[in-house]
Amino acid sequence: MTKVTPHKFAGVYSVEDNDRTSLCTESLTPGISVYGEKLIDYEGKEFRVWSTRRSKLSAAIRNGLGEMPIQPGSRILYLGAASGTTVSHCSDIVGSSGVVHAVEFSERTARELIHLASSRNNIVPIIDDARHPTRYVSVVTGPIEVVYQDVAQPNQAEILYENLKTFCSFGAWGMLAIKARSIDSTAGLDEIYSNEIATLDRLGLQIEDNIDLSPLEKDHRFIVCRVTEELT
Ligand SMILES: C[S@@+](CC[C@H](N)C(=O)[O-])C[C@H]1O[C@@H](n2cnc3c(N)ncnc32)[C@H](O)[C@@H]1O
Repeated sequence: MTKVTPHKFAGVYSVEDNDRTSLCTESLTPGISVYGEKLIDYEGKEFRVWSTRRSKLSAAIRNGLGEMPIQPGSRILYLGAASGTTVSHCSDIVGSSGVVHAVEFSERTARELIHLASSRNNIVPIIDDARHPTRYVSVVTGPIEVVYQDVAQPNQAEILYENLKTFCSFGAWGMLAIKARSIDSTAGLDEIYSNEIATLDRLGLQIEDNIDLSPLEKDHRFIVCRVTEELT
């Protein structure tokens, strides 16, 4: 017996299926499985199971995320889109009144992202380097409310800050999946996380949430922060 119920976060759902509870989103493009995820028909709608092993945002929600800035209608800038696994669920959540600008610098990986965007009007693929936001400023239309970042780079806090500074104003949100081993391959995890958080704080971002993604993702933390002062 399958049952789908709304999650506390708008646009996110829980599905109970054979004694297992998973997260899911309502598909914007019924009939299409983006990355092999299970499709569930329920009361005339189609839902896509949202893997906690394939998406750090799903893992963060499962591990107790307190705030979910990505909502129906949100305008997002997504850095490190890869082939679009998490982007596809963000696209479901923001719906046709929102937009996901999805930045990926690997042309090969981005081919699938471009294919995904061809069937979803609310995804704008941007093949560029997230370290240089001024390069894609002309492609990003309108104000951005949330910058989501999942790039394996050493200076993750600075990249988030530069993008927030370029595209956002007071009240905007940053969501950052910190991949510890891309920052330092040997230092202690707590030290790496504290340094990144201290950098975000020094750059003027207010930390709202800090989630350990284990055991779903090894050596990762998920940070939610907010622009509460003018970024200079
Ligand atoms: C961990 S994967 C992202 C997975 C994706 N966020 C998801 O959940 O579906 C990280 C991606 O970031 C991309 N990346 C790394 N550095 C980047 C940069 N400076 N600019 C844009 N993309 C970058 C990589 O090519 C890779 O595809």
